[in-house]
Amino acid sequence: MNKMMLKDANFSGKKVIVRADFNVPLDKSLKITDDRRIRESLPTINYLLKNGAAKIILMSHLGRPDAQVVENLRLRPVAKRLEELLSQKVLALDDCIGDAVKQKIAGSPEKIILLENLRFHKEEEKNDPKFAQELSSLADIYVNDAFGTAHRAHASTAGIAKYLPAVAGFLLEKEINYLGKAVSNPQKPFVVILGGAKVSDKILLIENMLPKTDCIIIGGGMAYTFLKAQGIAIGNSKLEADKLDVAKSLLEKAKAKNVKIALPVDHVITKSIDSTDDVKTVTDIPDGYIAVDVGPVTCKNFKGILSTAKTIVWNGPLGIFEKDAFAQGTKDVAQYIGNLKGVISIIGGGDTAAAMAKFKIEDKMTHISTGGGASLEYLEGKELPGIAVLQDKK
Ligand code: 3PG
Repeated sequence: MNKMMLKDANFSGKKVIVRADFNVPLDKSLKITDDRRIRESLPTINYLLKNGAAKIILMSHLGRPDAQVVENLRLRPVAKRLEELLSQKVLALDDCIGDAVKQKIAGSPEKIILLENLRFHKEEEKNDPKFAQELSSLADIYVNDAFGTAHRAHASTAGIAKYLPAVAGFLLEKEINYLGKAVSNPQKPFVVILGGAKVSDKILLIENMLPKTDCIIIGGGMAYTFLKAQGIAIGNSKLEADKLDVAKSLLEKAKAKNVKIALPVDHVITKSIDSTDDVKTVTDIPDGYIAVDVGPVTCKNFKGILSTAKTIVWNGPLGIFEKDAFAQGTKDVAQYIGNLKGVISIIGGGDTAAAMAKFKIEDKMTHISTGGGASLEYLEGKELPGIAVLQDKK
């Protein structure tokens, strides 16, 4: 990455404002159910501590509070988890801008401060320059480590870089190193696995990947629009009828480029995704049934392709993995990849990362992105605003 990184800047005696992505899932009792995004922010925080930063002012959004103060979306649970992980007190504030915030920061002995949810202010998502300037006035230098939010041009991810020297944190650097290499210079054979509900979410990704990849494996709900485009009966499975032509054209483009597209040949089906009373595995999907997972023959085919891969990028689960009865395909393929030797396995964030966590195979993958939408947009070849605004290396 040609952007200024932590190691290119001097933090000694400086107040550093760090945009992290602490948008973590919480249960009803406000307990964090997956703290990976918080754990992944520690290398940057520890580096700043070690390199003499006077204050480390952390900021993030949590959820989509729609520009209002939502009690359940306060960042206090994050502050608590950070304290546990850092074994150090974290001052959690109840706002992110204004004189009271400045006074509390100046008057506190704590080195690490967490501002309140940025999205309680409508100006954050509007990338309001005054709000960005207010945030910038808290510090001497800005670090963006929020890869998961780098696709949003908000005040704390983009606007603020106009007012402060702006560098990338370790997490941002790591994400770009893995995802960037996969996009620009993958070790071949390079296999992309796509899943999830909708073709429409993945069209740009397929188009961007076709010139680079050797094979695209497609599962999940999106596979059924591709099967239908080939004249295969899909029963009542997920169909995006208005994307049939796009699917046909992508299949043709792949053929012209000699890229194999691997689709499911057998399926786990059910009459209703809310019931497991009538679940079976079939090769032909009868009317009245919905495909909810790939079948064992498909898994075998997919694993055969993956066995020769040197780079794998996976974005989107192969079935409705949240339900155990429909999780086997995703689990089987994930476990297989986890046990492959000498392969770079990169998992897109969001649902795919959640599936790896559910199957407890996160540690066996080379890299699991902390960005759902951000990793998708990056793999689509888009420039992410939160990265574009950082200072170029001299
Ligand atoms: C995410 O979880 O993908 C990021 O934190 C961004 O959240 P958003 O989609 O609400 O902008």
